[in-house]
Amino acid sequence: MSDRIENVLHENRRFPPSDAFRADARLSSEDGYARMHRESIEDPESFWGRVAGELPWIQPFDKVLDWSEAPRAKWFVGGKINASAVCLDQHLESIRSGKRAIVWEGEPGDTRTLTYTELHTEVCRFANILKSRGIKKGDRVAIYMPMIPELAMAVLACARIGAIHSVVFGGFSAQALSDRIEDGECCAVITADGGWRRGKILELKKEVDAGVAGKDYVHTVLVVRRTENDVDWDHERDIWYHEALLKVDAECPPEPMDSEDVLFLLYTSGSTGKPKGIVHSTAGYLVGAYMTTQFVFDLQDEDVYWCTADVGWITGHSYIVYGPLANGATCVMYEGAPNTPHPGRFWEIVQRHEVSVFYTAPTAIRAFMKWGDEHVEKHDLSSLRLLGTVGESINPEAWMWYHQKIGGERCPIVDTWWQTETGSIAITPLPGVTTTKPGSATRPFFGIDAAVLDEDGNELGANEGGLLAIRKPWPSMLRGIWGDEERFRETYWSKWPGYYFPGDGARKDEDGYLWILGRVDDVINVSGHRLSTMEVESALVSHESVVEAAVVGRPDDLTGQAIVAFVTPAAGISASDELLRALSEHVSTEIGKLARPAEVRFTDALPKTRSGKIMRRLLRDIAAGVETVQDTSTIEDYAVLAKLRNYDD
Ligand code: PRX
Repeated sequence: MSDRIENVLHENRRFPPSDAFRADARLSSEDGYARMHRESIEDPESFWGRVAGELPWIQPFDKVLDWSEAPRAKWFVGGKINASAVCLDQHLESIRSGKRAIVWEGEPGDTRTLTYTELHTEVCRFANILKSRGIKKGDRVAIYMPMIPELAMAVLACARIGAIHSVVFGGFSAQALSDRIEDGECCAVITADGGWRRGKILELKKEVDAGVAGKDYVHTVLVVRRTENDVDWDHERDIWYHEALLKVDAECPPEPMDSEDVLFLLYTSGSTGKPKGIVHSTAGYLVGAYMTTQFVFDLQDEDVYWCTADVGWITGHSYIVYGPLANGATCVMYEGAPNTPHPGRFWEIVQRHEVSVFYTAPTAIRAFMKWGDEHVEKHDLSSLRLLGTVGESINPEAWMWYHQKIGGERCPIVDTWWQTETGSIAITPLPGVTTTKPGSATRPFFGIDAAVLDEDGNELGANEGGLLAIRKPWPSMLRGIWGDEERFRETYWSKWPGYYFPGDGARKDEDGYLWILGRVDDVINVSGHRLSTMEVESALVSHESVVEAAVVGRPDDLTGQAIVAFVTPAAGISASDELLRALSEHVSTEIGKLARPAEVRFTDALPKTRSGKIMRRLLRDIAAGVETVQDTSTIEDYAVLAKLRNYDD
């Protein structure tokens, strides 16, 4: 971490928004930001009450915030609202009814465009299919799909009838899907026969069949036909979406949902092995997604907005589905890989659809840099006016490349810090206001009272590295961990009483700008995806040839961090390429390809303290190839350390 602090301290470049950008921006003055931020912190009830008032309520709320049962917040108490009506119905009576809601491109090049009116119709019919299977308010429905319009429809259809959606990223394995279905006790799964990825079919239905095996409580698997590969069929449980569509009509009134009713669960990794089902509420979440989309992306009615994330992650929930649609935006959605059929695919899409606001991840930016500027230069990117990043800190070189090559030096860049748990963007520049510094997420959004504290909760001075904290509740904050109140309190609220602990290190510079310094727990960030080291370790030790494993992250130029596993094989098993492949395959099956170690180091033993704790800091230094600064005097067996250090000899 100290290297990174050094690194960012040398960053002196400043990028104020241009006059041209400011002229049309929603918010363009420092004073405006300061005033609004102050009000949002000092008088959150009137600030958020006003913002929430812009949404279409079925029944108005009586109280903005009830924090009396902290850390369980209640926002917009007594109100009734429906998320799909916020995203769709409200636009039908306006000039937006014929506006494009989703402009979709499949990886093979097929396209589909849906206006708000068309999307509304499709969502109502989709919702009626769910109803016809007896799915109702409060039921949990797993969604495991490729990035096709039906994925957005499935999410909105659940919201329409008040079913709680639990989207599982299509790259996860059958085992990971099964764990999530079980934890949420989902009664149905919405999937597709397959999806396209790098010219190949991802056979999703096959994974679902394995994932739901033996789970009698899953009474329905609804399958969208996408890739037309052969699939196995259970005539009781499985139904084709295109067949079911013929039997339903397009009338489906939105279910009135209480503000605090659960809208969705989304699983994320923590420092222990078991993924956490993060619980989000209906109204607070929507207010957060709605307002951040409007202000962070400076959304205007003419914009064509593209967030390249997958709906399987929180970024896709908040910034492909709920935030942009609540604002009546035109959203581009793309199914496939960024380099299929060629490394300029994203830029071709930007040019074709005249994308004006583009939001992606630093790891993707680094991949584009590696693939070469020629793929960018072939395309006309003059429609772009604003760029964003999310998922990890962006290194200044990548920031500068993004600014110059993609933004043509005219587009502000919003480096947005947030989490599955925060629900919406929490620390970010506002593009018409903030002078950006490459690598800094800059300042808190409205309602976010962010501070850098030490372990005891003391606020640190300028440029002192510490722990990020949020000191007040905000509308889109998580409402819990599904079925685990204790873990919710312990993980997020026990470090300092009343304050939220996100698990990230940070420092505030002399201008009050925040620099995020990465996770401080056992979570690794690979390509912007959060993975728990324990989760990968338990996958490894569940293999018969492994007795012990320790997993750490090491810096990686492309993916931010890469997984390094130190593995002790069982007696009589020797390290071999074959074992290496078997372990990689095993992790793939247990979690998904994204969790496969970049490197496996076999070792007779792991370095431990005398009390038996694995010395992870030490392993991190060894994996990164740096001299350790850790005190090794408590190590139990020095020979182990010597062997690991000489690994490359
Ligand atoms: O460590 C931070 C990092 O990603 C974590 C949240 O991961 P997840 O819940 O999967 O959500 C990712 C998309 C919102 C954070 O705790 N992170 C996210 N954005 C940034 C970031 N780190 C630095 N800068 C960012 N802009």
